[in-house]
Amino acid sequence: MSQKDYATLAALPENAGLTLGELYERSEDIPSNPTANPTMGDILNARLGRRAALRGMLATAAAAAVVPPFAAPARAQSVAAGLPGARFVFDEIAHGVDERHHVSPGYDADIVIRWGDPLFADSPAFDPERQTGAAQARQFGYNCDYVGLAPMPGATDTARAALMCVNHEYTSPEIMFRGVSNPATGRVDATKMTKDMVDVEMAAHGTTIVEIVKGANGKWTYVRGGRHNRRIDINTPMRVSGPAAGHDRLKTSADPTGRAVSGTINNCAGGMTPWGTYLTAEENFHGYFGGRLAEGSRETVNHRRYGVPGGWYNWASYYDRFDLAKEPNEPNRHGWIVEIDPYDPNSTPIKRTAMGRFKHEGAETIVARDGRVVAYSGDDERFEYAFKFVTAGRYNAQDRRANMNLLDEGTLYVAKFNADGSGEWLPLVHGQGPLTAANGFASQADVLIEARRAGDVLGATKMDRPEDFEPNKRTGKVYLALTNNNQRTAAQVEASNPRAENNWGHLIEVTETGDDHTATTFRWEMLVRCGNPANPAQQALYNPATTANGWFACPDNMAIDPQGRLWVGTDQGTAWRAASGTADGIYALETEGALRGTSRMFFRVPVGAEICGMNFTSDGRAMTVAVQHPATDGARDYAPFGRHPTFDDMPTRWPDFQANMPARPSVVIITKRDGGVIGG
Ligand code: FEO
Ligand code: CA
Ligand code: CA
Ligand code: CA
Repeated sequence: MSQKDYATLAALPENAGLTLGELYERSEDIPSNPTANPTMGDILNARLGRRAALRGMLATAAAAAVVPPFAAPARAQSVAAGLPGARFVFDEIAHGVDERHHVSPGYDADIVIRWGDPLFADSPAFDPERQTGAAQARQFGYNCDYVGLAPMPGATDTARAALMCVNHEYTSPEIMFRGVSNPATGRVDATKMTKDMVDVEMAAHGTTIVEIVKGANGKWTYVRGGRHNRRIDINTPMRVSGPAAGHDRLKTSADPTGRAVSGTINNCAGGMTPWGTYLTAEENFHGYFGGRLAEGSRETVNHRRYGVPGGWYNWASYYDRFDLAKEPNEPNRHGWIVEIDPYDPNSTPIKRTAMGRFKHEGAETIVARDGRVVAYSGDDERFEYAFKFVTAGRYNAQDRRANMNLLDEGTLYVAKFNADGSGEWLPLVHGQGPLTAANGFASQADVLIEARRAGDVLGATKMDRPEDFEPNKRTGKVYLALTNNNQRTAAQVEASNPRAENNWGHLIEVTETGDDHTATTFRWEMLVRCGNPANPAQQALYNPATTANGWFACPDNMAIDPQGRLWVGTDQGTAWRAASGTADGIYALETEGALRGTSRMFFRVPVGAEICGMNFTSDGRAMTVAVQHPATDGARDYAPFGRHPTFDDMPTRWPDFQANMPARPSVVIITKRDGGVIGG
C-alpha cells in the first residue's frame, strides 16, 4: 500500500485514535467471512423455529455443563495451595495491572532473552537509538510468541539444556522508533517510517533458534554464539512443498518457479513435531500488503476473503513484493505452516502447502494410534474455522529422516460442530463434494490456497476466533481456545459459540471418536465459558471453586505440561479493561474430576503485554513464557498512564526499567525456588 493509501486507512473513522498496534489487534477481529454458509443457529431456526431452537440450545448447554452456570466465585482465601482433589498446587496471585510481571509465591520468573539481545559472537550490542536492519538480523527479534523446546543433539530430554525455537510475530513501531507516532492520536505516521526503519522491522520478524542451558544455580540462560543459534526472517530463502508448490498462483517476478519464497511473516504460535522439527504458523499475513490489485484479477475474491491488503505496515512503499499492483501472487506465498529443522542451522525452511493456507494460529501435533501424525490448527479471525491435518504416511520413531516430508501428503479437514455435541471433520479434497471446478477449485492447489473458501462451501462451523488448538498427549483430549467475537449476533448464537457479543471467549474440549486422532467424527463439550462468573450478564461458566482471581477472559495460547495438565494464557488486546480489568495472565485449569472447570491465576504480565509461548521442559521444572508487546495494548486505559505510548513515553520500561531503554518483548523462564515441578 502506498503511503497515501496507508494514510487513508488510518483516517477511517472507525480507526480513529488507534495506534498501529491497536490497528493490528483490531485486524485479528475484522470479520472476513462474508459467506452465507449458515451458522448452526440459522439451521436450527429454519428447521425448528426460533423458540424450539433456543430450547434445543439450552438443553445442549445443560448437557455440556459441568457445573451450574453463573456460580458465584469462591472466596479468595480458599485458594491457598491445596484445594482438595486439585491437580495443581500453588498459591494463586491476584488480578491486577501494573508495570511489572507477577508470579505465584515460591517461584521466580527470570528474563532469559530480550528484543535486541546478541545471538552470535559478532552481533552488535543493542542500541535502540541506532538500530539497523543488519544489527537486528544478528539479534533476538521483536514480539516473541510461540516458544518450542527441542533436546540438544545427543540428549533425550530438555531438562538441562534445549534448543529454544521462538516466533517473532510482529513489530510495534510506535514504541520501537522515536518520532514516528503522533502522541495525540497514537497513530504511526507512515510517511515517517523510513526504509531503514522498515529494514529493522523486517529483520525483527520471523523466528529465532537459540541454545539455552540450566546453570548450577538452577537458573536458565541463553548461549550467545551457540552452535545452533539462528535468525530466520522475511528475507531467509525458503522452499515450498506439497500440492501447491510450483502452482501458477504462487509465481512472482522474483520466483518464476513458485517454489522459492523469501521468508516468513506474522509467525504466531506453532508446535514441535515428534521428529524434532519446529512448525511456525503464519497468521495475519494480510497486514503486510498494500497497493491495489488490478481490475479483474484472478485473485480478487481470494484476497478479499483473507483481508488482503491489510495495509498495517508501509513495507510496500519500499519493497515491490508487498505491493499488490506489482505482485498480485505474493500473498499466496504466505499463510502457511513452515517447517524448520533446528538441528541444522543451514537447513532450508519449508512451507508445507498440504496443511492449507489460512491465518494459522498454531500447529500442534500428536501421533495417532496407527502412527499417522495429526496437526491441529485454528484460523484466528471472527467466524473462521478449526482445522486438522492427518498425514498419509506413518511416523517412524527409528528413522528421523523418514519423517522429514511426512507433512507433504495427507488430508486437511475442517470442523463442523453439531448442536447435539457431535462433530464432523469435513475433508478438503479436490473433486469431493462441492470442491470442484464449478466452485472455482480447479485442483487441490486451489483448495489449499483458498482453504477458507473451501471451508465455506463445505459448511464448516463459524467459530469465535479459533486460537490455540492443542492435543493432550496424556489423555487424548483436544482443547480449542476461542478467544472472543464481539460481532456474533443473537441470531448467530449456536451451541459451540453460545453467546452473542462474546467479549470473553470459551474453551471447547474435543474427544475424537474412539480416541483416534485420525477419526472423521468427534464429540465436543464446553469446558469453560470465560468472563466473570459473578456478573450474570456475562453468562460465564466455571467450576464454583474458581475464585474472584481465577476467572479469565480471551484465552489464546495453551500449554499442556508433562503431567498432562492444562495451562491457559490470555490475550485481551486493547479491550483488557472491559474484558476483565486485569492484565493478561496464565491460568491453571483443572480438566478432570470434581474440580473440572476450576481455574487459578499463576502469572501475569506487565501493562500492555499478552501471554505467549507457554511451554515446559521435559521434567516440568521450567516453564517458558513469551511476554509480547509490553507497554502497548490499551495503555490509555491504564490509569497511571492514560495516554498513547511512544518511544519516549511508555507505561512501562519492562524488563530493564532504564530511562533510555524501551520496553522489550522478552522470553521469561519460570522455575520453582525449591527446584520442584511447576504447578506442584
Ligand atoms: Fe497471533 Fe491469534 O494470535
Ligand atoms: Ca496467539
Ligand atoms: Ca500451545
Ligand atoms: Ca491473540
